[in-house]
Amino acid sequence: MLEAKNSEPLLEVRNVTRRFGALIALDNVSFSVRKGEIFGIAGPNGSGKSTLFNVITGIPFPPSEGEVLLAGDPIHRMKPHQISRAGVLRTFQKDAEFATLSAGENVYASAVYCGQMTSAEAKHAAEQALDDVSLAGERRTKAASDLSVFERKQLMIASAIVGRPKVLLLDEPAAGLTKPEISGLSDLIRTVNGRGIAVVLIEHVLPLLLEVSEHLMILNHGAVIASGKPQDVVRNREVIEAYLGKREARL
Ligand SMILES: Nc1ncnc2c1ncn2[C@@H]1O[C@H](COP(=O)(O)OP(=O)(O)O)[C@@H](O)[C@H]1O
Ligand SMILES: [Mg+2]
Repeated sequence: MLEAKNSEPLLEVRNVTRRFGALIALDNVSFSVRKGEIFGIAGPNGSGKSTLFNVITGIPFPPSEGEVLLAGDPIHRMKPHQISRAGVLRTFQKDAEFATLSAGENVYASAVYCGQMTSAEAKHAAEQALDDVSLAGERRTKAASDLSVFERKQLMIASAIVGRPKVLLLDEPAAGLTKPEISGLSDLIRTVNGRGIAVVLIEHVLPLLLEVSEHLMILNHGAVIASGKPQDVVRNREVIEAYLGKREARL
């Protein structure tokens, strides 16, 4: 999808700060994601990664200061459902599906929420999204709570892409997966991206981040301490000291 990429920023975060009382969870963060890009974000626990997704999507709160733009239009004063309908969707670190609904019903519910689709269109879109993530047909009628950890990741991503986002924000999707499953997740992320969806990936699993990301940004104490080509960023002295430590040698 080379033609889908260009230098025009699709998602722009400009000087975003988020405070919780005296705590500054995000400190003047700026970056931009291009159309069709996979943009990786890493940083120690508590460095503000999830808060960044919170303020971009408005779920559950907006930035204290700064701006978020989608294709040049400000979205930071919009309500969460307006932001998702504009094309920015996220996943959560914890399972967020309806446990007693089947996989198919979960994705259908997301289709109805996200798009202005008729019931028939939503059903069709749900099947298409489940095909895209390769969830086996016979598993689609199982309650979400009966699915395996990897199948729940497939469901999570299907529920997000069914709304046809322009940008998909994934918050630590590899959590709980085995090594072979992480490789499956990597394929899944590439498939999503191959549909022309820009992906912003927060991840602790550095080999996955390095494998799929075209750009890598590191947060520490709410601030951007490095941003650039992944292989350059992981060799940055400040990044090694703040976060990677001895792990860098094992990459
Ligand atoms: N709703 C909240 N109220 C108060 N403090 C919060 C809230 N959300 C996050 N924080 C704090 O902001 C900091 C960043 O948290 P978070 O974005 O979850 O980090 P990460 O995802 O990088 O582990 C932490 O110190 C956390 O305790
Ligand atoms: Mg987090």
